[in-house]
Amino acid sequence: MVWIVTITLLLFSSHALCTNPGLKVRVTQKALEYGREIGIQVLQQKLREIQIPDVSGKADVPVIGHVHYHITGIRINDISLPQSAVGFYAGNGIKLSIDNAYIHLTGHWRVKYLFISDSGSFDLSVNHLSISEAIGMTRDNTGRPAVHSAGCTANVGSLDITFHGGASWLYNLFSSSLEGPIHSSLNREICPKVSSAINGLEQHLKTMKISSHVDKYVEIEYSLVNPIAITNIFMDLDFKSEFYSVAQHKEAPFSPPPVSLSEQTDHMMYLGLSDFFANSAGFAYYGAGALHVNITNNMIPKQYPVRLNTSTFRFLIPQVEKLYPNMLMLMNLHANQRPVLKATPNNITIQAYGAIDTFAILPNSSLAPLFVLDICASVSAKMAISEMKLTGSLKLNSLRLSLGHSDVGPFKVTMLQGLLNIAVKAVVLPKVNARLANGFPLPSVDRLSFVNPLLKVNQDVLVIATDIHYGS
Ligand SMILES: *[C@@H]1O[C@H](CO)[C@@H](O)[C@H](O)[C@H]1NC(C)=O
Ligand SMILES: *[C@@H]1O[C@H](CO)[C@@H](O)[C@H](O)[C@H]1NC(C)=O
Ligand SMILES: *[C@@H]1O[C@H](CO)[C@@H](O)[C@H](O)[C@H]1NC(C)=O
Ligand SMILES: *[C@@H]1O[C@H](CO)[C@@H](O)[C@H](O)[C@H]1NC(C)=O
Repeated sequence: MVWIVTITLLLFSSHALCTNPGLKVRVTQKALEYGREIGIQVLQQKLREIQIPDVSGKADVPVIGHVHYHITGIRINDISLPQSAVGFYAGNGIKLSIDNAYIHLTGHWRVKYLFISDSGSFDLSVNHLSISEAIGMTRDNTGRPAVHSAGCTANVGSLDITFHGGASWLYNLFSSSLEGPIHSSLNREICPKVSSAINGLEQHLKTMKISSHVDKYVEIEYSLVNPIAITNIFMDLDFKSEFYSVAQHKEAPFSPPPVSLSEQTDHMMYLGLSDFFANSAGFAYYGAGALHVNITNNMIPKQYPVRLNTSTFRFLIPQVEKLYPNMLMLMNLHANQRPVLKATPNNITIQAYGAIDTFAILPNSSLAPLFVLDICASVSAKMAISEMKLTGSLKLNSLRLSLGHSDVGPFKVTMLQGLLNIAVKAVVLPKVNARLANGFPLPSVDRLSFVNPLLKVNQDVLVIATDIHYGS
């Protein structure tokens, strides 16, 4: 009995822990390699900041007596980190190792004995320095990815000192006294500098926008919905990626499908954006009352012979012209359900459902209702990426009309088909496409951009395979 309960609880909790994301981002080894190049430069800068304190002491020399020495102005002149490797560390984060690093330091020496002073400079090289660092990756309490130093070891190899100036017999007095303090300073300072570099990365990750205000109607939430999943070959970040209406922050009444990405690794990143993203946009915009447009005569481009006035309707619905002679008309097109997007291989299709309330505009500007058409439109979408934003454009596939209600008697709606195709193509889609061309931001940190993103539509998901660039 206890076992059944335990197993049930375990199953339950593992389900509760795992929410399907709207966007799954896979980071591959190739991205780590690119990150390593940048990281090594940052680390090199950090290691240059290491400060080694002055060393002074005295040595007893037969005949001469006390020799006081002072070593000052020790600074790092050159650092090279020629060998490094980076890899995923399943379940935890990223491992970075640096081998055969070389540090060159310079400084001054000064000695006093009897009543004589002597001074000169020295060069010191540290060969075969190795550093190994584990970078832990987690989800922080704001829902952003976070990094921390999860273990560092530094191994300062051999030191090699060359003195310049002064009497050479003096060097031997303090060269051994010098090695110890510098060796331990380096050993003590390296890992904190590595941590400080990682902390810089963490500060940078904090700039990730986990919610984005899109326009006056909607915003997008991007926070991580699951812990970061790390295998030996990639890392997956599950972002919520849901649109909300600004006015009423309401959860979509449907949930995201599972997003699976193929095991390809030839790009730095793979993004799997499920159709939940677009459907939550449809739900939010519809809920915000944003999906409506008035179509008037002056919106229909001049080149179309069909005008939105009652004379034009003389042949279609004679009754309209009889009741309201020589008047302009207005069509109010509005969604009456949320639009639904479906991604199938190489195909994104949106079904939109709505109605068109049609009016004659009376001389005193009030509106006389004529008829209501129910419409169902099938639209195909093409998506693209531009500056870390997802953009799109729509093309009308088909438009089905039926008469919902008429104040001017029965008529054949098929006769209005041509006019409405024009209205949708010339008025409605350009408006929607202008909005879609503005794009919707994808989660990103400052100074990160996509390089040559490739888009592919699979079942329920748009896959973006891309390399990345970090810089200005
Ligand atoms: C459409 O026109 C009607 C009547 O003039 C008006 O009440 C409504 O706000 C307009 N809608 C839009 C989206 O312009
Ligand atoms: C209505 O459209 C016809 C062309 O179809 C045009 O000749 C006529 O002047 C228009 N009437 C009004 C009131 O705009
Ligand atoms: C795209 O998908 C829709 C339904 O999801 C289907 O009706 C349509 O025929 C498809 N188009 C192509 C070109 O496969
Ligand atoms: C506009 O004119 C129509 C008919 O001519 C009338 O029924 C309606 O009350 C008028 N509306 C206004 C606001 O004056």
